[in-house]
Amino acid sequence: MSCSTPLVDAFNRRISYLRLSVTDRCDLRCSYCMPEQMQFLPRKDVLSLEELHKLALAFIDRGVTKIRLTGGEPLVRRDVIELVRAIGRKLGDGLEELTLTTNGTQLEKFAEDLAGAGVRRINVSLDTMDGALFEELSRRDRLNDVLRGIAAAREAGLKVKLNTVALKGLNEEEIPFLVEWAHANGHEITLIEVMPLGEVDGERIDHYLPLTAVKDVLDARWMLTPSDHRSGGPARYFDIAETGGRIGLITPLTNNFCAGCNRVRVTATGQLYACLGGAEQVDLRAALRSDAPDANVAAALDEAMRIKPERHHFQIERGAAPAQPRHMSLTGG
Ligand code: GTP
Ligand code: 5AD
Ligand code: SF4
Repeated sequence: MSCSTPLVDAFNRRISYLRLSVTDRCDLRCSYCMPEQMQFLPRKDVLSLEELHKLALAFIDRGVTKIRLTGGEPLVRRDVIELVRAIGRKLGDGLEELTLTTNGTQLEKFAEDLAGAGVRRINVSLDTMDGALFEELSRRDRLNDVLRGIAAAREAGLKVKLNTVALKGLNEEEIPFLVEWAHANGHEITLIEVMPLGEVDGERIDHYLPLTAVKDVLDARWMLTPSDHRSGGPARYFDIAETGGRIGLITPLTNNFCAGCNRVRVTATGQLYACLGGAEQVDLRAALRSDAPDANVAAALDEAMRIKPERHHFQIERGAAPAQPRHMSLTGG
């Protein structure tokens, strides 16, 4: 395949991973992610499936080899599977991996279609296996749907990695059990530090749990060995001898990983954010809808490479405003 100029930023980082949000809407309301009364984007501002597909092709043409569809919750967008199929046709033709991050509530319905479209592995968010805590955390009683979704994904042949946000006083005590359960069922599991993005009801710091502390607890229990495994995202992995499984740690607060950043994210309205923690953005929707879309999208991607910052500056402090006013559900993480 002929490829135009690869995407390389001002710090010489090659951008090969696109996180493409297909909707900011979600059927859960995780309390560390969004307030109960969340304001979603007006539907009229959201890109069409055709526009999302065009953008995906433009990124592949510039050397992106991995695309992750995100949300909000990507599977609440009607017809999303059409987009998965359309992008999936590029697998083996420039695209190496097409995947998604989902909360799992609708996975039972979509698992087979995803596998059929060429998806091989997915990341499913699961912060607890306790029904009451799940409902408290996500403000919805959906744990059983998620567990059925995970089982359906496995049956469809998808590899499932679990994502667990570590939360002090909430799922803190349960983390070793979640790791055991994940490994016993053939899943990898990645723990994530909560990030200060967008206002929520209450203070994130009340539940902020540094993964350095979690790692100490796990080290006391099991034999963890650093692993060379890389999945393309920010996680750093460890093998656990006793469970025979792998655990990932995503540590934006306690151990910055930005030097190896390979990604940008695009919102459902076509705004490219060069960094999850920064305000730097370019408007791909305006470029797409201009009278010279190809040239203008290419120019916008060049601009994104010029403005991508070296790193985020997340800090969690009591009473402080979030690092960015937008929620994780807007950029899809
Ligand atoms: P793999 O392909 O399995 O490596 O997935 P991933 O970690 O890239 O994607 P996923 O959607 O599972 O993201 C897990 C967590 O990592 C989410 O909370 C994301 O917000 C976070 N994350 C992903 N990329 C970045 C990043 O560039 N910076 C920060 N701070 N967090 C990120
Ligand atoms: N900090 C860290 N992770 C978050 N997620 C959502 N909001 C936040 C936040 N503020 C997680 C979700 C999901 C992943 C995409 O991001 O739980 O696993
Ligand atoms: Fe929805 Fe994900 Fe935010 Fe939870 S973390 S409310 S599942 S977008």
